[in-house]
Amino acid sequence: MKFYQLKPEQRREILQSEGINLEDIDDQVLNRLDKLSENVVGQLRLPLGVVQNFLLNGQSYMVPMAVEEPSVVAAANHGAHIFARNGGVKATSKRTGIYGQIVLKVNHDFSLPDLKKKFPDLIDLANKEFASLIRHGGGTRSIEAERKGDLVYLKVLVDPAEAMGANKTNSILEFLAAKLKQFPGIEEKLFAILSNYPSQLTKATVTLDPKTMGGRKVAERVALLSKIGYEDPYRAVTNNKGIMNGVDAVLIATGNDYRAIESATAVLASQDGHYRSLSKWTMQDGKLVGELTLPMAIGVVGGSIKARKDVQQSFAILGKEINSAKLAEIIVSVGLANNLAALLAISTVGIQAGHMKLQARNIVSELDASDEEKKKVLAQIIKQKDYSESYAQAVLKQIREGK
Ligand code: MEV
Repeated sequence: MKFYQLKPEQRREILQSEGINLEDIDDQVLNRLDKLSENVVGQLRLPLGVVQNFLLNGQSYMVPMAVEEPSVVAAANHGAHIFARNGGVKATSKRTGIYGQIVLKVNHDFSLPDLKKKFPDLIDLANKEFASLIRHGGGTRSIEAERKGDLVYLKVLVDPAEAMGANKTNSILEFLAAKLKQFPGIEEKLFAILSNYPSQLTKATVTLDPKTMGGRKVAERVALLSKIGYEDPYRAVTNNKGIMNGVDAVLIATGNDYRAIESATAVLASQDGHYRSLSKWTMQDGKLVGELTLPMAIGVVGGSIKARKDVQQSFAILGKEINSAKLAEIIVSVGLANNLAALLAISTVGIQAGHMKLQARNIVSELDASDEEKKKVLAQIIKQKDYSESYAQAVLKQIREGK
């Protein structure tokens, strides 16, 4: 039997026989995970943190974030706190659809104008074939075409309703490609697959009174850092990493495809041929105004979302009213909150102070010590601002020697 055909327990036995130490795992959990992925031998878990009060479009949300870096959740909470002091963040999402691509090889019998005349019929056919998508409020919306030599590029826009829509879009594209084969002059379909090109654009904006965030000088510094991020790609990419810290953490917590968002985001950041910050902070009438637009091909149903209990708990945290538009708005707004917190840290005490305080917990958790001892070590290393493992060990030794 091939490795992928084995039961997960059998795969684990093979790895263990090679001397690999695997974490214990409940049989039921293992078998459930085996249905979600391939060659499964275990699971990887992440801490699930929350932003407690995220004020967005006048509504307060508790937002789940799955990430192993403590400063990310702390930064989101810090940004969210400042947003809330200023009436919250406003966001809008355009759930117009995601793109699919069909590329065809054509010969001299092919006529693009004739093909274009067929598009309304093709859209109708697709919407009849995929009627359940229509019932959910989605559907195939448009087809555009362009010829480049003997290749024709079709761009199909599919509204996936409440889902991310990758599977459904791929099925629709295959269906359309099969119909197109009958058209004169089309020799072959080269491929028919969704495109991760930016779509489902979601924008978050916030207007902050400098008094709520350290004063005018700090606000002006944030705006200056933002300008640097617009001009300098070395800074832009780091700025954008800070945004993706928050974005990815919510995407992962809600079982969404963060790879798709990451790749689409990179396109958006370099849309004028120069890689730039995705966010923009400017001083306007004495206020600091922040804005961020991101492609949010996400969903609240579909994929493995329903099948994953860990993801379902995130949706329970978000509350019953959540839909894909609201989730997209939350995600982009959290990205903006993380971005603000990072810019504030950089423009004031520097990032390392906050980071190291949080990393101190990781260092202390590694100590072979009681909870009480760990508490004392943590307090001491934070006091001394020495976050090295050797210092933590030395403090533990002193505590044990009663010094
Ligand atoms: C660290 O994870 C993210 C930051 O570097 C982002 C930034 O510099 O804007 C703090």
